[in-house]
Amino acid sequence: MARSRRATLHSAARLLLPCLICVLVPVRAQAPVNHVPGGFSLTPPYFNLAEGSRISATATCGEEDNGNPRTDLYCKLVGGPTVGLTSQTIQGQYCDYCNANNPEKAHPVSYAIDGTERWWQSPPLSRGLRYNEINVTLDLGQLFHVAYIIVKFANSPRPDLWVLERSVDHGRTFAPWQYFAHLKKDCIERFGKEPNARTVRDDDQICTTEYSRIVPLENGEIFVSLVNGRPGSKNFAHSPNLQEFTKATNIRLRFLRTNTLLGHLISKAQRDPTVTRRSS
Ligand SMILES: *[C@@H]1O[C@H](CO)[C@@H](O)[C@H](O)[C@H]1NC(C)=O
Repeated sequence: MARSRRATLHSAARLLLPCLICVLVPVRAQAPVNHVPGGFSLTPPYFNLAEGSRISATATCGEEDNGNPRTDLYCKLVGGPTVGLTSQTIQGQYCDYCNANNPEKAHPVSYAIDGTERWWQSPPLSRGLRYNEINVTLDLGQLFHVAYIIVKFANSPRPDLWVLERSVDHGRTFAPWQYFAHLKKDCIERFGKEPNARTVRDDDQICTTEYSRIVPLENGEIFVSLVNGRPGSKNFAHSPNLQEFTKATNIRLRFLRTNTLLGHLISKAQRDPTVTRRSS
């Protein structure tokens, strides 16, 4: 309990949503699914598909929804100023702005997959609470078997509530792959799923409240394995349901609520005048 409470406060205090995305497929599965002769297994080494993908976001800090540049001021409660950049402090919070016109202040979604330390950033919630809901979509260009998806939130909390979705028809339709909630009750109430249930079927869409159980990965990363722990993982070549479950032409991160909202409400209760400038 103490651990999750601390995590919540920590999350609420760090308000950026930068994000770096990796989509790992087995090297032998780089060819489109239909062209892989016979069966194959999901064994290392893996190849990162994200860098070669097309990526889009429904909203970005420093950009109007139509893509025109705008200035968005965002603040975070803790953490040092951005390296090499001047940032202002408002009531003890580090603040900066995004603007798509300024190379040093732009955070386009292409930064999430370009292999650099640059990041994508969502608009501050002061622009509207509707920016809790943002879709980031990767177009892989063809059908792949995806083994892992890794999402890094370098300077920010992981989102409070989101759904990993996939399409197998080039983005015409999307279906949930895995649900993520900070609170167990959100698994039940929002998604109708038992929290942290064991995967029984190869195509179970689980709801997880723990993102970082895998040892080498630090907080702020979400490591999604679409194969490990599923019954068919030991014999992928002869597990049609798991082969089907891992297929994707497009991958969507459907963010439903950032961790900012809690900080937003706390600060509002404390009559913090800077609250409306907080970023997500
Ligand atoms: C995100 O995508 C889902 C379908 O995957 C759609 O229902 C929803 O409206 C989209 N949200 C936004 C903010 O565009």
